[in-house]
Parts: sequence; structure tokens; C-alpha cells
Amino acid sequence: MAEARDPSADGTAPDGPPFDGVVYQVYPRSFRDTDGDGVGDLAGMRAGLDHLASLGVGAVWSSPFFRSPMADFGYDISDHRDVDPLFGALADVDGLIADAHARGLRVWLDWVANHTSDRHPWFTASRSSREDPHRDWYVWRDPAPDGGPPNNWIRHFAPEPAWTYDDATGQYYLHHFLPEQPDVNWDDPGLREAQLDVLRFWLDRGVDGFRADAIVLIGQDRTYPDDPPGTPPDGRGWFHWHPSTRGHLAAARRVLDERGAVMIGEAFLEDVDAVLAHVGDDALHLAFTFQLLLAPWDAAEWARRIAEVDAAFAARGLWPAWVLSNHDKPRLATRVGSRARARAALCVLLTLRGVPTLYQGDELALEDAEVPTEREVDPGGRDGCRAPMPWTSEPGCGWPDPAWLPLPPDAAALSVAAQEADPASALHLTRRLIALRSSHEVLVRGAQRVLGAADGIPDGVLGFVRELGDARMVTLAEMAGRTATVPAFADGAWVVRIGSDGAAAGEGGTFDGTLPADTAVVLERA
Ligand code: NOJ
Repeated sequence: MAEARDPSADGTAPDGPPFDGVVYQVYPRSFRDTDGDGVGDLAGMRAGLDHLASLGVGAVWSSPFFRSPMADFGYDISDHRDVDPLFGALADVDGLIADAHARGLRVWLDWVANHTSDRHPWFTASRSSREDPHRDWYVWRDPAPDGGPPNNWIRHFAPEPAWTYDDATGQYYLHHFLPEQPDVNWDDPGLREAQLDVLRFWLDRGVDGFRADAIVLIGQDRTYPDDPPGTPPDGRGWFHWHPSTRGHLAAARRVLDERGAVMIGEAFLEDVDAVLAHVGDDALHLAFTFQLLLAPWDAAEWARRIAEVDAAFAARGLWPAWVLSNHDKPRLATRVGSRARARAALCVLLTLRGVPTLYQGDELALEDAEVPTEREVDPGGRDGCRAPMPWTSEPGCGWPDPAWLPLPPDAAALSVAAQEADPASALHLTRRLIALRSSHEVLVRGAQRVLGAADGIPDGVLGFVRELGDARMVTLAEMAGRTATVPAFADGAWVVRIGSDGAAAGEGGTFDGTLPADTAVVLERA
């Protein structure tokens, strides 16, 4: 039998990573609305904390709620030290932190270190003249000889230049994202200290950590070479990551270490070594592992990616931080093709070695909203996955009509209230999975091996084993859309701890080797 887990008082085992729980991402605009304006708010986040605590997650990461003109819905910050009135006030953050801590939840904020809003006073000063002391806080370059942008870089969200010309001073400024999001210059000591002060400001208010936005871009090749010919516009920019980022992260890490805080970085890179270049004792504690979010729904491909990532992280004594959805990509259920598959994927996510992150609504197996053209608002086409979270089964599901975005499909039937009442729901499945993880040390600290044909795993099935001492647990997921049989685990010694289809009746019995299409099981060696 598995050993019961005995975490230290703060939930962190001495030999483990700085955080070994489950992360839950809140996208504040769409989480919960308390003032009836159709946009979620901080009071709503506070009101939703009991839901998070009931899931058993350990940390809540909130996307930005700072003052912002909202060109990129908060990822364009005009004041790092204040709350946008849309969401509330600073006192609400203090209340949120206190309420979260009272429930044993850590609070992580988004640290947008690579850019600010073009309305941030730093940028207003910087663009005011070439002599302004803030000039070098951003990236200004002369036009190319033909008067065009300094190089051929393309920004995110549209195949347009990553540079905007500023008439007043006759130079271009760099922006990997929108023109309203100028990149800052981390090689400038004043800028660097100001960004580290942002960390200190929020640490002083009691936050426990940060999610570092677009962090791999803060170190830049200051010669700004052209991208090679043939570089696809999609995803362009991320590969501009540069080794100097590591030094900047070391400076951030010293600030965090003084307070025992944690940083998880957005290193949106498929190359595992490139991700690892940003993680370690003098850099990020953790980096989101996007390899499965980017993978097709295919057992062999998931197996390959899990094995590759896990081996690379384990070799350095590090944990991956798996993520299957967020506010930038189609929702899990939409991407993998069905809610049943999304539930199977949750079984994988929550039993893999590493830190799992749930995006709000994953626990309800929500799909993307269909957003009619006239209601589209995001310049990056990401509205669907940002649909409001349905709380009740009443009309509006806890939101006024209209909310800032349409509700997701079947919102009332999939609401928190409706799923609460259904023991077979995705909500209860998520709770059971997290509870299993918390009560089985092997799922947290155990070694991991991806299983293959030699272990009796048929084509179309993903399997991996976790092992710690005598404890052994196996996750099997059917990913080919047809019933599979896995006799290798039907010897009567494997007990079904979780079945993704919600048939709790089967849980606790021995596995009979049958894996219905699009389902997963978590088995324990008796
Ligand atoms: C990544 C964030 O997740 C995304 O929402 C944002 O648009 C960009 N970084 C720019 O901050």
C-alpha cells in the first residue's frame, strides 16, 4: 500500500522543490463578478477561494489585475503598484492574500517583466526625448538605411513589425507584443532595479510568489540581428531568448530567496534544453512545461514528450511544471476534442511527476465559448478560452447578461453548482485526483517511467508508472478513441483508485484490463 504523505508544516518537503502542490490559474476578468459589471473582480476572487480550497490546490496564480489600459487585457501595465479600478483596490489584494493564507493557499501574481504599457510613466518619459534619463529603459534604435524598422522581427498576434516608429524622437521602439506593449531594456541598471522593486512591493504585501510573463525575452541580443529567411511568423519571437536572461533571473532570484518566494516562468519554448536554460538555483524555481499543451492527442506523442521532458528535468534534480491549458490557448476539452478526453487528460496531468497547473474551468471540463465576430475583443484571438466561469445553474450562471464575453457551451449544466450535485462530474473527479495526489507520496515524490509495448501497453494507450519504495501507481489513458484491453495490469493486483469516466463504482475494485475509449484510470499496486 502507498504510504500516507507527511508534508512539512508549510507543505514543502525538505528534499523536494520549493512548491509541490497543484497550481490553479485565475484569469480575474472571467473568474467571478461581484459588482455586476460583467467583468470579474478581486472580491470575486476572494469569494471563489472556498471553491479552490475544496479542490485541494496549493497555490493560486492570478493573471494581472494591475492598472492597465487593457490593450492586452492587463498584460500592458501602466502602474505596477496599483489595482485597476475595474477589479477593485489595493485593500482587496490585501484581503485576498489574508483570506487565501487562512485557507492554506499561496498567492502568486503575474510579473510582467518584459514590457509595460505605452502609457506607463516610464515609457512616457522614455519617449519624451533622447536625453531623458528613462530613454534607455526601453529599446530604441535608429531606422534602417531605407527608413524602415531596424530589423525584420515580427510581433506576436499579427504579421506586423515588432518595431514602431516614434515621430517625436525619430527612432523605433521594440515591442515583441502589441505596439502598446514596449519591451523594456533589462541591461539598464535603473530599469532592472525598478522591476526588482516591483517584486519587493508585492512581497511586502504578503504574496508568496510570481508567474513570470514572457520571461525568456528579457535578455536580448543587443545587436538585434535579422531572423533567418523562412522563419515562420507563428510563434516568432520566443526563440529570441538569449543567455543574458539567466543573469537577470539571478538578480530576481536573490530578491525572492530573501523572502522564501517562488517564481514559475513562462518559457514558451518547445526545446527542453532551452527551457532548462532558465531554471535552477540561480534562476527560475520552475518553468511551465508546455510540451503536452502543444502536442496532438496521440498516445505515442505524449509518451515521447513526457519521457523526454522528465528525463531532462530529473537529470538536473528538477521538476517539470506541466500545463495543459491557459488563457492563451484553446481550452483542454476543445483542443483534445471532447470532455471525456479532457477528463482523461486531467488524470494524466495530476499524476505526472512535477507541478501541475489547472486553468480555471478545467475542473469543470469547460470548452471554449463561441464568440461571434461582433463580440471579439482580444487582439490575439484568444476570447474563446477566456469565457466567464459558470458558477450557478440560473440564467447567466452568476454573470449579468451580457458578460464581457459569452458563456461557454452548456454553461448551466457544467456550472460549479450543477457539478457539485453530481458525484460523477469533472469537478468531483478533479477533487478526487488532487486528494489522491495529496495522500499518496508516490504521486508527488515517486520516480516516473513511461511504459511501452514491452510493459504490455497497446498502441493508442499512454501508460506511466510512479514508484517510491514499495509503492507503485500506474496511469493508463486511452487516446485512440477505441476500447483497449491492457491485460498486463489485470492480474488482480492492481486496484482502480480513479476512473476518468466518473464511474466511482469501479473505484476501489481490481482493474479488469478494460479501458473504454477516451478514458483513463489511475491504478495502485495492492
Ligand atoms: C504571455 C501572456 O500569457 C499573454 O496573455 C500575453 O498576451 C503575453 N505574454 C504578453 O504579455
